[in-house]
Formats: sequence, structure tokens, C-alpha cells
Amino acid sequence: MNSIFRKKSINSMMVNSQQKQLKRSLSLLDLIFLGVGCVIGTGIFVITGVVAAKGAGPAIIISFILAGIACALAAFCYAEFSSSVPVSGSVYTYTYTTLGELFAFLIGWDLMLEYVLAISAVATGWSAYFQSFISGFGLHIPDSLTSAPGTHQGGLVNLPAVLIVLLLTALVSRGAKESTRINNLMVFIKLAVILIFVFTGISYVKPANWTPFLPFGFQGVVTSAATVFFAYIGFDVIATASEEVKNPQRNMPIGIMASLAICTILYIAVSLVLTGMVPYDKLNVADPVSFALNFVGQDRLAGLISVGAVVGITTVIFALLYAQVRLSFAMSRDGLLPKVFASVHNKYRTPYKNTWLTGAVAAGIAGFIDLTTLAHLVNMGTLAAFTLVSISIIVLRKKYPDLKPSFRVPWVPVLPAISALLCIYLSLSLSRLTWISFIIWIAAGLIVYFLYSKRHSHLNR
Ligand code: ALA
Repeated sequence: MNSIFRKKSINSMMVNSQQKQLKRSLSLLDLIFLGVGCVIGTGIFVITGVVAAKGAGPAIIISFILAGIACALAAFCYAEFSSSVPVSGSVYTYTYTTLGELFAFLIGWDLMLEYVLAISAVATGWSAYFQSFISGFGLHIPDSLTSAPGTHQGGLVNLPAVLIVLLLTALVSRGAKESTRINNLMVFIKLAVILIFVFTGISYVKPANWTPFLPFGFQGVVTSAATVFFAYIGFDVIATASEEVKNPQRNMPIGIMASLAICTILYIAVSLVLTGMVPYDKLNVADPVSFALNFVGQDRLAGLISVGAVVGITTVIFALLYAQVRLSFAMSRDGLLPKVFASVHNKYRTPYKNTWLTGAVAAGIAGFIDLTTLAHLVNMGTLAAFTLVSISIIVLRKKYPDLKPSFRVPWVPVLPAISALLCIYLSLSLSRLTWISFIIWIAAGLIVYFLYSKRHSHLNR
């Protein structure tokens, strides 16, 4: 029985990771770009529209701030962990040293749900802007090939979403450095179009559009915070890259905090301008940011935004794919998942088979399930992960009082406790269906753990 709570020591983790080494090729700037690249995407470009129209109205700004606070608190905890335990696998690895193997496995299992479904969800948003972009040239893909069954009349498959996931899988499978360069360029373009939107849009803002400010009441704001939370997902992803970062003790905490700060500021700016330009009830469209510019007659800029969104959302899929592969790589290296996930390609030095397996599953899901369902499940998985990481910090401090990470969370245990409670509070406003699906996934994880992982764990040796 005790074996399910067995823990890895931090030292053994470092030795283990040095044996199966990935290249340390990422600089601090690469890391911030990876973070921003992974965070800003479908959340702000797509989900903002429906949430403003149906969930929060102009008060969506408060939803963004609320979700941002929850993320910032969790980010503190991530930052301390990633500067104490700089090996690949993120919160999974941290939990292994603090709460023990069973919790570590379950959190890894939970994150797999988060990342894989997030790849699919974001690809669906990519597909929306891709269609908006090509429609500028009078091109139109038949509805049956651009929507999942049940979302649109005659919807069969979301083909653009499937294809973009497969394309990026091919890229990631060939190596971090190569893909990082492309990533940096794409993130730059994404930031540029967002700034263009904010600075152009601001002159079209009519303050009258901000009233009524709270058309759906305060409960609407909280429920919406649990939805727009999706827009922040991804900053944790940079923690999964710690094995490939130069000087991780210094760079990881700075990278995590900086990318979260940049994103929060941009989200507040975009949602303020968006709801100031267009009456909130008109924003229930698949491409709200371009739509707002079309609405004020800036058609050319709207086209430019679509291109930028297509490029920008691509980087999110890239980074999430990268994270998912590193996570299952770490779990497999510990014996908790089959060996195939940790095999490294001779030439590219990447987990090649793992990447293709992940990409194929995510592409399949992207083709057949709609964005809202996916986004809610992703948020549920993430809130659960944030809750555990916050609790783990308290345990880490107790268990390793001598550890001197370069970043320390202030006011432990109060701050991590508030972080955990806030995450639980937000998750309570997600739907019953989301909760049931999540519980089924965790139950499946328990079965896998007791039938496979517990017996194959390297800690048995
Ligand atoms: N935060 C990511 C996005 O908004 C998942 O697309």
C-alpha cells in the first residue's frame, strides 16, 4: 500500500534526466516566446466573442482579471518548482517528489487530457480564422468539411483543424531548435497584429457600448472566468521544457512570470477595445477580432488580423504538442507509461514516435468534437493541475526545508492555499457534463495505474 505514496528524491531525478539527455538549446528569450506563443491563441481570438455576447458582456474584462489572478498565483508555485526541479515533465515531476507516485501519475494523466484536448481545441479556433482568411479571397470550404458532426448542419469533419495538427506534428518531431526558430518568428507576428488591433481599435471605441456593464450579473462574470481561463492555459507549458533550457534555475521563473504578465496585459487591452468597438451582443461570431474591424469598416486590417491570428494560433498548437510529448516522455522514462513514449530518434534526438502518436490522437479529436465542449474539459483538467501544484508547494517546503531555489513563493502556506481555493471555486462553475467526463477520465487513469504503472515503475528496482 505504501508503494503508491513512494516518492522520488530530487537528486535521483536530476541524475536520471542527465542519463537520457535532451539538448539544452533554449535561451530565456526563446522561453518567453515559447510561453507567449503557447498562451495567446484561440482563447483571445475566438472564445472572447461568445463569452462577451452570452456570458459576461463588457464585464468580460473582470472575468479576464479573475482568471488572471488564479493563474498568477499558480504561476508563483510553478516558478518555485521549476527552479527547484529542472527536469522535464512539469507538475508531474514536482508531484512525484512531494505527494508521491499515485498523485504524480494522476496529475500526469490529467495533464495529458489537458494538453491533448487543448491541441484539438486550439486547432478548431485556427480553422475558424483560416476560413475567415481565405474567404477574403472568395474561397469557401464546404460546411461539411469545416465542422465537427452536430455543430453545424451537415458537419462531417473539421478538416483544416486535422491538417494543421498533422503538419505541426511533422515539424515538432524533427527537433526543438529548428521548430523554436520558426516559433519565435510566428510569435512576433502574433504580438504585432494584436498591437495593431488595440491601437487602431481604440479610436473606434464608443464608451456607450460598455453599458450595461454587467448584463448577466456577477455570477455571469464568475462563470465566464472559468471559460476564459482557457486563454491563459499554456504558461505552465514552459515548465515542461526545463530540461532543454540553458541555466534553468534563473531562466525558468523569469520566463514563466514574464510570459504570464505580457498575456494578461494584452487580454485586458483586447477585451476593452473589442467590447468598446462593438455592442457586446453582436460578438457571438467565430472570428470576433476580425469581425470588430469589419464592423467599423476597416476591412483591410480585418484581413491582416486573420492572417496574424492564423499564424499566431499555430504557435499555440506547436507549444502544446511540444509539452504533451515531453510530459509523456518523462512518465515513460519513469516506467509509468510504456517505453515507446521515451524512445529517442537516433538522428533527430527527439521523442519521434511519441510525437506522432500524440499528433494523430489530437488530430482525430480536432476533427470531430466542437470547441466549447473541448475548452471546458481542458479548463477542468488545468484547474485540477493548478490546485495540486499549489498544495505541492506547501509539501515541498516541509519536506525539503534546505532547498534553495532561485525563486521562492512569498507567504507560504497562505498564498498557495488561496491559489488552490480559487481554482476549486472556478471549477465549480463548470457544467455537470464536464465534471462527469473528468471523473471518468480520472477513473480510467486509476485503472491504468494499478494494472500497469505501479508494476512497471522504476522505483520498484
Ligand atoms: N491559451 C491557449 C489559447 O488561448 C490555449 O489558445
